[in-house]
Amino acid sequence: MMPFLFNFQRYLEAKRSVDDRALNRQVWATLSELLARFPRRPVRILEIGAGIGTMIPRVWEWGLIDQATYLALDIEADNLHYARNWLAHWAQQNGVMFDESTGSCFFQQGKRWLKLDLLVADAFIPSGLPFPHHQFDLLIAHAVLDLVNLEAGLATLVNCVHPGGWLYLTLNFDGLSLFLPPLSWELDDQVIALYHQSMDERLLHGLPTGGSTTGRALFATSSALGLEILAAGASDWVIFPQHNHYPAQEAYFLHCILHFIEESLAQQALLPTERLIKWLSARRAQIARGELIFIAHQFDFLFSVPK
Ligand SMILES: C[S@@+](CC[C@H](N)C(=O)[O-])C[C@H]1O[C@@H](n2cnc3c(N)ncnc32)[C@H](O)[C@@H]1O
Repeated sequence: MMPFLFNFQRYLEAKRSVDDRALNRQVWATLSELLARFPRRPVRILEIGAGIGTMIPRVWEWGLIDQATYLALDIEADNLHYARNWLAHWAQQNGVMFDESTGSCFFQQGKRWLKLDLLVADAFIPSGLPFPHHQFDLLIAHAVLDLVNLEAGLATLVNCVHPGGWLYLTLNFDGLSLFLPPLSWELDDQVIALYHQSMDERLLHGLPTGGSTTGRALFATSSALGLEILAAGASDWVIFPQHNHYPAQEAYFLHCILHFIEESLAQQALLPTERLIKWLSARRAQIARGELIFIAHQFDFLFSVPK
């Protein structure tokens, strides 16, 4: 067995197939219908915390957009650097014309096109984003909001879209992580409770972040900002082996989840080291045998911004 080496971009790549299964199809379909009826072309999209850009093949392959400008923003330059090469490779593999001679990434297939720009920026600094307000039709934040202060963060995102525009906020973690089969209920519960606690203790710019209950908190936070929920539903990660084998890169994804738990708990010395090591070793052995199942409960939302 190859030794596990954590790499964030590889983690995001491995997460793609897990997210594809998880995304709530009813929420997606509502957005898809709205965009199909929306008269403006190109549709102007901003994605915050875009990582390596896995949402871009998704909106293309699942037919969400036909002509769009897409600004993908992330705080980490390494992610966006990786995104450029990764998306060029994806285009080549899928018969999509790709051109970056103008500095933007341009994708085209027949009448469909997407012009992508990549921007390194902190989307949530108090001074705000480095472009004028209200210029986008749709804002996407996928697996991001648990990392930021919900009240301040959501207000920032609302300012990005024009009145009547949409916020598509997906994979918002909501308080349940489950590893099966159980090892010892008591140790499993302790590890997971401490992992969630570490999420709840995270700060960004001195403010508490959405943490382990971001999903449910979005109902109240969005309502306080006057946002209307157009669709909402669960988007749980469910990773399971078939014939003791995980699809795509999902075994690597599971190792990354254990790595996050190890980092969070080790840093805070919340559990005696030998108990943590025992738990991690047993879970890693379950991945190697193709036995581990992991479930995380999350919510997707589609909001409209008041006119
Ligand atoms: C869990 S990853 C999700 C990435 C991508 N949306 C995906 O699901 O593949 C969270 C992403 O948000 C980015 N991020 C975190 N804080 C940010 C901030 N303040 N401004 C912009 N991006 C941020 C991280 O660099 C990371 O790429």
